[in-house]
Amino acid sequence: MRIDVITAFPPLFDGPLSESILKRAQEGGYAEIVLHDLRSYTRDKHRTLDDTPYGGGAGMILKPEPLFECIETLQNERSYDEVILTTPAGRVYNQKLCNQLSMRENLIVLCGHYKGVDQRVIDALVTMEISIGDYVLTGGELAAAVIIDSVVRLIPGVIGDGESLLSDSFMENELDCPYYTRPPEFRDMKVPEDLLSGDHKRVETWRRKAAEKLTRERRPDLLRKAPHGNDKEQKS
Ligand code: ADE
Repeated sequence: MRIDVITAFPPLFDGPLSESILKRAQEGGYAEIVLHDLRSYTRDKHRTLDDTPYGGGAGMILKPEPLFECIETLQNERSYDEVILTTPAGRVYNQKLCNQLSMRENLIVLCGHYKGVDQRVIDALVTMEISIGDYVLTGGELAAAVIIDSVVRLIPGVIGDGESLLSDSFMENELDCPYYTRPPEFRDMKVPEDLLSGDHKRVETWRRKAAEKLTRERRPDLLRKAPHGNDKEQKS
């Protein structure tokens, strides 16, 4: 998978892309993540990226020219499955959308910034707008990093243990169960007996029940969406 990221602040990606699983995914050839500094697509002397909105008001708007220049340059080199804009106005990101994106070959992620992006860019070039939640970030870079992290870890081979992915929270519209590791007792707190039993079936049953209990307590909205759950929403 190749992901081209268009940003006015490339250094914001230094940390997320150069550590841990994202680093390994790139070194192992599973993901090619290419950063494009929007400023290098400007043509004026001051390398202007943004301007005030027509009609007035606070905040600055990303200008169309550098964005068209950058995206069209990329599109002339290869075809892209999606041109994603990170914006609080987008559809709210979740595991289902993440799974879908992980199966794509080439993505462009355009980081929204300042007050917004000239609407002509969105109308002509953007195919999908994504919000990572109902709160406002200073810019779309951190949202883009969240999307990239969650997508790249799903590419087959990136995480050695494929089983671990399947039991992730949200994979079955359910939270994952609690986990323990050694020692079996720590400051009078004991690991549940079933997990120490060595009996695979007992462990599985404990985990399934614990996951369901946690989901019921914290995210009952997820259970209504579960394929095996009491799915009133889907039926109506
Ligand atoms: N830019 C600012 N806030 C955002 C959000 N919640 N999701 C995506 N992009 C954003």
